[in-house]
Amino acid sequence: MSSERKARALAHNDRYLSPAKGELFRAIGIDLVIGRREGYSLWDLDGKELLDLHLNGGTYNLGHRHPELVAALRGALDDECLDVGNHHFPSEARGALAEALVASAPEGIARVVFASGGGEAVDVAIKSVRRATGRRRIVSAEGGYHGHTGLALAAGAARFRAPFLSDGDPGAFTHVPFGDLDALDRALAPGDAAAVILEPIPATAGFLLPPEGYLAGVRARCDAHGALLIADEVQTGLGRTGALWAIDGYGVRPDVIVSAKGLSGGLYPIAATLLSEAAGAWLRTDSHGHVSTFGGAELGCRVAQKVLEITTREATRDNVLFVASRLAEGLADLAARRPFLREVRQRGLVIGLSFARPDGGVHVMRRLYDLGVWAIVAGFDYGAIQVKPGLLWDEATTARALETLDAAIGDVARVL
Ligand SMILES: Cc1ncc(COP(=O)(O)O)c(C=O)c1O
Repeated sequence: MSSERKARALAHNDRYLSPAKGELFRAIGIDLVIGRREGYSLWDLDGKELLDLHLNGGTYNLGHRHPELVAALRGALDDECLDVGNHHFPSEARGALAEALVASAPEGIARVVFASGGGEAVDVAIKSVRRATGRRRIVSAEGGYHGHTGLALAAGAARFRAPFLSDGDPGAFTHVPFGDLDALDRALAPGDAAAVILEPIPATAGFLLPPEGYLAGVRARCDAHGALLIADEVQTGLGRTGALWAIDGYGVRPDVIVSAKGLSGGLYPIAATLLSEAAGAWLRTDSHGHVSTFGGAELGCRVAQKVLEITTREATRDNVLFVASRLAEGLADLAARRPFLREVRQRGLVIGLSFARPDGGVHVMRRLYDLGVWAIVAGFDYGAIQVKPGLLWDEATTARALETLDAAIGDVARVL
């Protein structure tokens, strides 16, 4: 039975917001309206508790309402020298975060442009590489996802760009299969590509792991053809893979890194495009080349700085490795016992589970929900689910996640 609050939220969604999305979820028995949230748990307005294994793509890497992040935001609100800021003027908060981000990044990253979300930050990345190279064409992966804004949308999958007639200028975007260096060679051969943009581990495709040597191969081909390399680290960045930036963990130096989601601590929207000196050269010459009123809002900068600090603590990094190895053991055992789990893709805490049916991910998502775990199907592969454990999970949470995955996968395999 729905509470009055929940019924009102569902009705408002259907009336004013997104009826199709509401219907889609309700059709598979999910009518979640998130109320209380704390750590890695969510409570539906009706009181049902869920372990959050989705984390909104890593927005809640450090959990919901992490006390140190809430304190950082409260402190910023109480600071009479801070608010959103004015994007025309230098800012202490923005400068300090930019310095921390550049220090965190692989060698070669030198500049930062702030945005209010991931799509906007990808747009800045694409604008920057075009301006730096004087070339228009962008090469990206089929099944990649970079957001729903203009250039980011055009770089992503047809599913989202085509209905909005947003394929970009004719010939300006080329999509190649992820993991296929020969296809990339052919796409870069004309010598007119500004950049290759890739998620190091494409999330919406079900966290496909790059084949051995693929990302280094992409870098080499970019260099050979005068193209730059953009790493979209909106989901893979900020410590999830064990390295702060996934691409760095693969030993590859990109020209541009995009960060969003987790940078906000789940409390104040903020995103960032990190640029090499060459990719960001326009910042030295064009004072108003790009502006964004809310990009780098100072309150968000203070939260993001705390996010970086917590994420790079030795204890956090050790915990990521500990949870990742527990999950690797547990998932290997699960896969051995349950053939319905066809493939485990894992790099640190970036995990995709692929099942032995093209709709297996939908069924497992649904059963997990019944059993108190919220994990989402991969949007471009309904046969897989995304599993996004938190950086600060403890042993009990890790065990609960494994037990529930075991039960859900077992139940689904039996029924189908
Ligand atoms: C890899 C990747 N890039 C970009 C984006 C876009 O971010 P935002 O929703 O903040 O615009 C997303 C969002 O899911 C993403 O997963």
